[in-house]
Amino acid sequence: MLPPVVTTIPETQSAVAAARAARQSIGFVPTMGALHAGHAALIRASRAECDYTVVSIFVNPMQFGPSEDYAKYPRTLEADRELCAAVGTDLIFAPTPGEMYPPESRTFVEVTGLQDVLCGASRPGHFRGVATVVLKLFNIVLPDVAYFGQKDAQQGLIIRRMALDLNLPLKVRIHPTVREPDGLAMSSRNRYLDPTQRHNATALYRALRKAEGLVAAGQRSMSEIERTMADVITATPGARLDYARVLDAETLDTISTLDRPALAALAAFFGTTRLIDNTILTP
Ligand code: PAJ
Repeated sequence: MLPPVVTTIPETQSAVAAARAARQSIGFVPTMGALHAGHAALIRASRAECDYTVVSIFVNPMQFGPSEDYAKYPRTLEADRELCAAVGTDLIFAPTPGEMYPPESRTFVEVTGLQDVLCGASRPGHFRGVATVVLKLFNIVLPDVAYFGQKDAQQGLIIRRMALDLNLPLKVRIHPTVREPDGLAMSSRNRYLDPTQRHNATALYRALRKAEGLVAAGQRSMSEIERTMADVITATPGARLDYARVLDAETLDTISTLDRPALAALAAFFGTTRLIDNTILTP
């Protein structure tokens, strides 16, 4: 059976309140739709842990820059609904921008510092948009547990920090990255790639594996690891490096040697499509 799709905040609140009144625990998976196996894994994790699973599908205009892909971002609600049905979802919340952002709204959430490096440096305002929409969605759905993917590592750190700093009464779970057989991280944006770009996009995964290999061989210099990752991207035809960084895995502070867990993070353009990936390096 296809899960119900509701588009208004009151409908969502009353559906969740009914589940809550029946003593069900609430799991929540926020998404922008164009769902794939990565999203499905989060929904399954919610199903396994919670009684009632809500998936939101909202292409959040606030997290896109003026020259980014908001207008062309894939919107595939019927297929998304089928995927949700196959995996097991109790409710889909698919609001309009007007439902989420009435013209009079003036409040934003910023997780300072964490929001300014990596993707935040390349996409100013992006994480302000993410934190604001996620807090709004949390307040609408009131979940016990919310599920995010390691693919967007910085986003996960920011949401975790926001939940701690603002005493949000919920658990944040981060699920491992789901990959294609050749290593490419699943992403809604992969569908923008032509066959050549799709082939070349495995450079991200190869660069991360090479970084892991260096660490296994004893390399501890962050700048050496960053250079090696950058070289893999720049040697790939049609790829343009945005960043290749290795930072403290919790604080995203710059570190010079691998003396604690570190986040190796990459962003690169294949044509006009910007893709990201990461791995955790441990000494
Ligand atoms: P979206 O890109 O649709 O991703 C929704 C969730 O799925 C995020 O938590 C993301 O990290 C996770 N995800 C995406 N690809 C994944 C993969 N290959 N493996 C595991 N998890 C994966 O991230 C967003 O939407 C938005 O920023 C959102 C949080 C919904 C706020 O608008």
